[in-house]
Amino acid sequence: MQLLKDDVVLVTGGGSGLGLGVARYCRAEGAEVVIFEISAEKVRQLREEFGPEVLVIQGDVTKLADLRACRAAILERHGRLNALIGAQGIFDGNIPLLQMPEDRLDTLFDEIFHVNVKGYMLCARVFFDLLQATEGAMVLTTSTAAYAADGGGLVYTASKGAIRSLVNQLAFEFAPHVRVNGVAPAGIANSQLSGPRSLGLEGQKQSDIPKDAFLSMFRSLSLLQELPTAEDHGPIYAFLASRHNKIMTGQTVVADQGLLNRAVLKTAG
Ligand SMILES: NC(=O)c1ccc[n+]([C@@H]2O[C@H](COP(=O)([O-])OP(=O)(O)OC[C@H]3O[C@@H](n4cnc5c(N)ncnc54)[C@H](O)[C@@H]3O)[C@@H](O)[C@H]2O)c1
Repeated sequence: MQLLKDDVVLVTGGGSGLGLGVARYCRAEGAEVVIFEISAEKVRQLREEFGPEVLVIQGDVTKLADLRACRAAILERHGRLNALIGAQGIFDGNIPLLQMPEDRLDTLFDEIFHVNVKGYMLCARVFFDLLQATEGAMVLTTSTAAYAADGGGLVYTASKGAIRSLVNQLAFEFAPHVRVNGVAPAGIANSQLSGPRSLGLEGQKQSDIPKDAFLSMFRSLSLLQELPTAEDHGPIYAFLASRHNKIMTGQTVVADQGLLNRAVLKTAG
């Protein structure tokens, strides 16, 4: 059985990391995948990897016009949409509030919240009617930062908390037609999660952290003692995006290798 056989699945922010891994997984589960991505270079690479089989659209989730163009392209190519998986996001550089220049806070807040929160809200608005027509699903990406401190700086953490709340409210407003759930990952191998332009950190990527250091931190902190790949997250996203999920809406699955399931930090095992 393929979870997503013949379903059309849109992955926003699918150019690298989590979204790309989930997109690949959804294809393996039988989906017709569409990827929406801001980076021209990643769009080029996606077209090279997938060829004509995957519709790849360049655009910005914070721009209504780009999302409307994406909607039109999906209708033209596929005539329907069964699931929307939101995977875009930017990081705040993990800088404590008191170390941030006061005069950058405004632009930092706007930058992070526009991509991490407004982007999901606009997607929900623009694609609702297509999802309603297929009794489809939305899956949004939050983070363990929405549940516990030190998963990022203050602005990233607040934005991830906001996504958790979006999941609750959208599930309520879109019921019973569209199921809306979230996933809260901890670390993801090969992520290119970028810092904010407003702090001059747009060139900083999670993948810059030496692989071994990141891996050994995860091994020492998470109960499952492994840093998952983006593809490892595929099954949970694919299930929540599929018609096989008849029982969950308004929930966020904490997919953290047991990282948060402890009161005191000691090496597990
Ligand atoms: N990396 C981690 O350890 C981690 C942990 C928990 C949650 N997350 C979340 O997972 C999601 C995916 O992050 P990732 O780690 O795969 O990073 P990533 O940078 O590899 O992937 C995010 C993608 O979103 C794209 N994007 C950014 N702004 C966009 C915009 N305005 N419009 C369209 N696309 C845009 C980026 O170009 C990139 O391709 C994010 O929401 C992130 O907050 C990541």
